[in-house]
Amino acid sequence: MARLKIKEILISGEREKEIVAKGWVRTKRGSKNVNFIALNDGSTIHNLQVVANVEDFNEGLLRDITTGASLAVTGKLADSQGSGQHVELIARDIELIGKADPEKFPMQPKRHTLEFLRENAHLRFRTNTFGAIFRVRHAMAFAVHKYFNDKGFYYLHTPIITASDAEGAGQMFRVSTLDPKNPPLNEDGEIDYSKDFFGKATNLTVSGQLEGELGATALGEIYTFGPTFRAENSNTTRHLSEFWMIEPEMAFYDLTDNMDLAEDFLKSLIRYALENCKDDLQFLASRLAQEEKNKPQDQRSMELMEKLNFVANNDFVRCTYAKAIEILKNSKPYKKNKFEFPVDWGIDLQSEHERYLVEKHFKCPVILIDYPKDIKAFYMKLNDDDKTVRAMDVLFPQIGEIIGGSQREEDYDKLVKRMEEMNIPSDEMWWYLDTRRFGTVPHSGFGLGFERFIQFITGMGNIRDVIPFPRAPKNAEF
Ligand code: 4AD
Ligand code: MG
Repeated sequence: MARLKIKEILISGEREKEIVAKGWVRTKRGSKNVNFIALNDGSTIHNLQVVANVEDFNEGLLRDITTGASLAVTGKLADSQGSGQHVELIARDIELIGKADPEKFPMQPKRHTLEFLRENAHLRFRTNTFGAIFRVRHAMAFAVHKYFNDKGFYYLHTPIITASDAEGAGQMFRVSTLDPKNPPLNEDGEIDYSKDFFGKATNLTVSGQLEGELGATALGEIYTFGPTFRAENSNTTRHLSEFWMIEPEMAFYDLTDNMDLAEDFLKSLIRYALENCKDDLQFLASRLAQEEKNKPQDQRSMELMEKLNFVANNDFVRCTYAKAIEILKNSKPYKKNKFEFPVDWGIDLQSEHERYLVEKHFKCPVILIDYPKDIKAFYMKLNDDDKTVRAMDVLFPQIGEIIGGSQREEDYDKLVKRMEEMNIPSDEMWWYLDTRRFGTVPHSGFGLGFERFIQFITGMGNIRDVIPFPRAPKNAEF
């Protein structure tokens, strides 16, 4: 007999034929005569209620059906008398596939803290919350590919091991096969990376953009979607050492085209989630509402569904960096010395500033443009003022920066000059500069932090809860 997924069983409601359901026990409650088993197989947030008449089953078998155990249940569906589900599976046969010792199985049928679940990340998939999060994450990954495929973009696989530091941030994980105890040294006593595996110093990529630009200046419109690594020692709720980034890169796009694409892309992902992840989002929304109840009134965020609909249906505000600084300087928290970090033209905005602009001032997503050149990467196109670059950061409520991007400098001489100013060795980047030497074109792109976006969609406060196996400083278990 064919096994059906619980999602299909609940939708079809087929009563005539016998069916088989397989999954893990979430809870079991029972009376003298009958046991009710909530079975979940990951296909949906909803459990299938299995009804086992005590007299039909071996006592030992029923005793071993505990939270976490895996079962195959054969039987027929019937109308459910209980509230919470409209059908239930009347068990004719139950096969106990794998027991879960209740003394030892950590996932008990009660509310666990997110911290506890992070320490048990190998089993947290078995909870409603993480089941919902990872189904939504999957749907969003699919929606990313669908969005770009529908628009004629090509998915370009950029390398994970690279020799360049795309963002000029210098916070990279080294990839090396040299013996750490006895590395070869050059005449100056420094490690001789010419003897290393690739014949040069290499690292895990911080961004696929530079290679993405090579693709875009031939294929027209490409995107990357892959893992990205940053060795920053930041233990925040918005940083990971390994995260996934989506980086579209488009020939013949200026900054306005780039902003239009970013806004449309984000809205379309949200709409996809609202249409295709209803049950999981509803569950996550009620989880969030529960959590928010414990916060003071003025710190509560908008209800999840309301927030998603709001962002999907309203224009983002577009504002220059200079104007944003002016707004911040005129703000209450600034005047009352409530910001932790200084505000002045030239500073890199901190999350507290970004969130003030989005949540308190504009009360909607904001795209900030024209940042000072000194706080942005070398490849951004210089404005005529010679002071600012055509950068754009998309700022979201609760998250702060969710997208960073720019129009790229397509002028060879200006780009080389900028690299010299920023001490970026242009000889090593000859391949990148070749795009500006041969048939250069205006082009633009951006990077969306996938986990920050999943935080937004699911309402989860900590980025470590939206990636299956988080990597962060001092944290690489599992
Ligand atoms: O602003 P970033 O550093 O931009 C780039 O890497 C460009 N090469 C993108 C491009 O133009 N193609 O990073 C882009 C986004 C950020 O806005 C943020 O959402 C996310 O990546 N991000 C991180 N997410 C989680 N953990 C970290 N440590 C992150 N660093 C950046
Ligand atoms: Mg950035």
